[in-house]
Amino acid sequence: MGFASINGKVVPAEEARVSVLDNGFAFGDSVYEVLRTYGGLAFEPGRHFRRLRASAARLGFSVPASDAALLAQVDGLLARAGKQESYIRIVVSRGLGDCSYNFEKVQGPTVVMVQKPLMPYPASQYADGIKVAAVGIRRNHPRALDPAIKSSNLLNNILAVREAQARGAEEPVLLNQDGFLAEGASTNLFLVRDGTVFTPPLSAGILAGITREVVLEVLPGLGLPSREPPLRLEDLLTADEAFMTSTTREVVPVTKVDETPVGDGRPGPLTRRVMEAFRTYAPAHCGQAALTAAATPSGRTTG
Ligand code: PDD
Repeated sequence: MGFASINGKVVPAEEARVSVLDNGFAFGDSVYEVLRTYGGLAFEPGRHFRRLRASAARLGFSVPASDAALLAQVDGLLARAGKQESYIRIVVSRGLGDCSYNFEKVQGPTVVMVQKPLMPYPASQYADGIKVAAVGIRRNHPRALDPAIKSSNLLNNILAVREAQARGAEEPVLLNQDGFLAEGASTNLFLVRDGTVFTPPLSAGILAGITREVVLEVLPGLGLPSREPPLRLEDLLTADEAFMTSTTREVVPVTKVDETPVGDGRPGPLTRRVMEAFRTYAPAHCGQAALTAAATPSGRTTG
């Protein structure tokens, strides 16, 4: 299945154990990141570590390792994985507690990393697009559990995925509490209309996806304008093209929303250009080099 590390100690994943008293298990009191490799190196580790720290800070704990130390741990797992491409899940929980809200007694944080072989999605999803379902479950309200916090409490997402799966769709599209488009269960959403690329704003109550961020950065180089206004489901249903983004899916065309085809029901030409551009960008922004580039004052992602 792969390898895992708990507070830096590497073992085969199936042998890794976290206590039943860990707050992550008892309360879902933890944050996480999903990274993937290209050519055996982790994609944009600096962006993932920054978001991990931001998520933990929102819950009032910190990630007890520098970016360099985190990457060294990731690389330690990848070295055990050999040549195959990997999926890496980093979970940081508040730590070992006593099934109470006595946070001062918690010993932690607990840092868990799980590596497993990357399971690519079927090529047909990229060639033909995916069907999504506009589900009834609404995205968590930011004032209840802010979707910007990448918390391991994924019940909102699980309920939405179950509804989508029951409707024969690959991924749900969730609206926010005000009825505006938010995001998928583990993806961000984009649509294309009249040559402009649109995506819901962060203020819609969504995760600031790293793939989303990269796509918005590469669009100007493709000569494609982008906008982030509040969007309605009708905007998706009447779009020329749509696509979703995530670490594991990269850029995947959306060609059907329930029974309504998007555009002509085929992946659109601008979507294909974005897919290409992302696949060119990704392998060039991995591992130590990407971490160093992000940390230098001239780096594009400083701050
Ligand atoms: N999902 N929105 C949500 C709710 C997510 O959980 C994710 C990530 C995204 C896309 O973010 P990124 O481009 O940084 O991967 C958007 C990961 C892949 C997961 O949970 O498996």
